[in-house]
Amino acid sequence: MSSLKDEITKRRTFAIISHPDAGKTTLTEKLLLYGGAINLAGSVKGKRTARHAVSDWMEIEKQRGISVTSSVLQFKYDGYCINILDTPGHEDFSEDTYRTLMAADSAVMVIDGSKGVEKQTIKLFKVCVMRNIPIITFINKMDRDSKNPFDLLEDIENVLGINTYPVNWPIGSGKEFKGVFDRNTRKILSFTANNGQKEVEKEEFDLDDPILDEKLGQYLKQDLLDEIELLDGAGDEFDLDAVREGKLTPVFFGSALTNFGVEPFLEQFLKLTTSPLARETVDEEVNPMSDEFSAFVFKIQANMNKAHRDRIAFMRICSGKFEKNMEVFHVQGNKKLRLSQPQQIMAQEREIVDEAYAGDIIGVFDSGIFSIGDTICSPSHKVQFKGIPTFAPEHFARVRQKDTMKRKQFIKGTNQIAQEGAIQIFQELDAGMEEVIVGVVGVLQFDVLKYRLENEYNVDIIMENLPYEYIRWIVNEDVDPKTLDLASDTKRIQDLKGNYLLLFTSYWSIDWALDHNKGLELREFGTN
Ligand code: G4P
Repeated sequence: MSSLKDEITKRRTFAIISHPDAGKTTLTEKLLLYGGAINLAGSVKGKRTARHAVSDWMEIEKQRGISVTSSVLQFKYDGYCINILDTPGHEDFSEDTYRTLMAADSAVMVIDGSKGVEKQTIKLFKVCVMRNIPIITFINKMDRDSKNPFDLLEDIENVLGINTYPVNWPIGSGKEFKGVFDRNTRKILSFTANNGQKEVEKEEFDLDDPILDEKLGQYLKQDLLDEIELLDGAGDEFDLDAVREGKLTPVFFGSALTNFGVEPFLEQFLKLTTSPLARETVDEEVNPMSDEFSAFVFKIQANMNKAHRDRIAFMRICSGKFEKNMEVFHVQGNKKLRLSQPQQIMAQEREIVDEAYAGDIIGVFDSGIFSIGDTICSPSHKVQFKGIPTFAPEHFARVRQKDTMKRKQFIKGTNQIAQEGAIQIFQELDAGMEEVIVGVVGVLQFDVLKYRLENEYNVDIIMENLPYEYIRWIVNEDVDPKTLDLASDTKRIQDLKGNYLLLFTSYWSIDWALDHNKGLELREFGTN
């Protein structure tokens, strides 16, 4: 029997982030393949099939052919137990993605070598930086013509503001892609396309091996030697502490589709990252190795199985060990309870878990008691984790029910969906609940809201898009929003907790508000 400490030490919990199409799904499949979790990653064709195989929970997801939800995958490799938090790259579902990052201890950032840093990567990256978690970069698709690798690094440094350290260095790209030079072992790993099977034919050469002239050609070899000199002379030093603090990102070049560079990446990744980190509570830090169990809810997913109208709360275990049927304390509900049917989601399969450890994610059936950010802990050692930030919605609509007789269902539906964190609801000052302002991070969530209210709550709604794009919480507690001097296109609203907020159509009107109201403080993120 392994000890609690052994179990937790071998855990790694990370999220994969990327702009859609950079290759996140493909890389995830290859990683799973090394863990033997699925038989042949190459057999999963195209992202549509792959995504549906993993998270085919909502009807709307099938209709649209995109992934609405994030899933969690676990596999074992070389004595490690690895939890991958898959995040949908689709920009319309980014709030869910943001929250998933709260449950991760590190992130893998996949970048398309032909495109460099893209819009969605920037947003996700910002959240990782906010948490100071290590970010490891995989520059993908080197088997296609890619940008100059120095330009790619510069792009990451300039756009994302993080230093880079290339762990390996590509030799050519596209048809000319010959492999990578490993800066640590000083060896060349040559590339042979192999249709993405697991067994990559590995060929390693020393830099002074005469066969390289033939393998690389005189031209590419000379380029490589020059580039190595440049990197060794001018690049950032490798600094593990800086990596762990999220200030330096180790960069790997490879090709997920052809399975080139994936295993070395995984091996290095496991060394570069740590086992589960301590988590901050309201007044202390929780050590993951503690004997006392603690976890927080980072995601709630309703109706994963429509036949059962179930709702699942996903929790990240932060310390200790979870055992089936153990009694826990739900801090926000101020109640002892037993978590029913704890599950782990493994690719398509959901398995009941008997035990799970700090770093693991479990899903439990929720009758409606949990909210995002809630703490669950051992009744004998009560702690409360800090809330999960609410990310600023960027699209707003006024929503009301068509049939006023359905008022109750409308309120229940919008509130429950808001509790899951899929939408945020606000009210105009002095307005009733029959009409709300809904804010979402991505516009597709409006469709999800409409669809779910119709299908799950039997309420038809009328939705009117509003022109606002920026939302700010008013930090000052003593400010009466009605007395503020605001531009005519600024709207005063409040959230369900009674906090006051302002909606703006432009940065110009935010500046206007700040200029005309001395001492007014506005904040972009809220906290649940
Ligand atoms: P995502 O999850 O980040 O959205 O990306 P995904 O893995 O689905 O990959 C997007 C496309 O890029 C896929 O093409 C995939 O096969 C391809 N791809 C991923 N990694 C590599 C790589 O290393 N090299 C090359 N050449 N291609 C790669 P697809 O599903 O066939 O469809 P399409 O989007 O090209 O139509």
